[in-house]
Amino acid sequence: MTEQQRVYVWDLPVRLFHWGVVVALGLAWYSGEQGLSWWDVHKWSGYAVVILVLFRILWGVIGSETARFTDFVAGPRTVATYLRDWWRDRTPSRGHNPLGGWAVLVLVGLVLAQAVTGLFATDDILYSGPLTGYVGSEMERTMTRLHTRIFDVLLILVTLHVAAIAAYRLVRGERLLIAMITGYKRNGFAPPWIAPLYRAVFAAAVAAGALWLVLATAP
Ligand code: HEM
Ligand code: HEM
Repeated sequence: MTEQQRVYVWDLPVRLFHWGVVVALGLAWYSGEQGLSWWDVHKWSGYAVVILVLFRILWGVIGSETARFTDFVAGPRTVATYLRDWWRDRTPSRGHNPLGGWAVLVLVGLVLAQAVTGLFATDDILYSGPLTGYVGSEMERTMTRLHTRIFDVLLILVTLHVAAIAAYRLVRGERLLIAMITGYKRNGFAPPWIAPLYRAVFAAAVAAGALWLVLATAP
């Protein structure tokens, strides 16, 4: 790749979301494996994941250009062409590439499902999610089973996610990781529109408020 101008593609909210999810999900994983003697850590890191994901969904609508779903969710034909030419055509993408866009949707969806099933899960002894009052014991069992199963799928997908980032670096020379840390790529595109930060504060407040409302009104 030739030296090109640095372009600011990932705004601060997207990067905070990403690394926030990595930390919170890691904490939830570790605490979940401790037989829930770390219940408070599990609960609060899980809540953090819920807020982060709700925030990201809002940010996908009102956020910066590259953060928006309309910017990176491509149709099947575009994805197929992209895949067919993956080896030959090394043109970098401004934001997410057509395949990566779908990876974002799947990852965000699974992470949300992981957290939401947790809200209805129970260890049948001491600790239960805050929304178990809405469901019977049969549904609690199903949610708890899903909470365990979805996590296994999530681990596989995160491994694939990191492998894909490595493949882009090794095969195509794209430094996606640096971009997700600093916000900058060298890809020759015109800089995308960056949303003002007050919008992110608003979206974060709505996300946190929504979770608070759900928890405060739970039976
Ligand atoms: C997205 C973040 C979360 C992750 C990654 C996560 C992960 C895990 C893991 C790995 C376990 C152990 C499963 C096993 O025993 O095999 C677990 C158990 C559990 N989690 Fe979560 N969890 C998350 C969010 C939540 C939330 C928000 C709640 C509710 C506040 C919750 C409630 C529970 C409960 C009650 C159990 C015990 C289930 C049992 O004993 O089988 N989790 N979680
Ligand atoms: C808990 C595990 C992880 C989850 C759930 C996750 C999820 C995601 C999501 C949802 C995005 C889209 C970001 C957005 O548009 O808001 C993304 C992008 C990205 N992630 Fe992760 N991630 C995880 C771990 C990692 C790790 C460990 C790395 C380091 C190698 C990494 C590197 C990246 C990079 C470089 C991108 C940008 C990809 C692109 O340019 O299209 N992720 N990740």
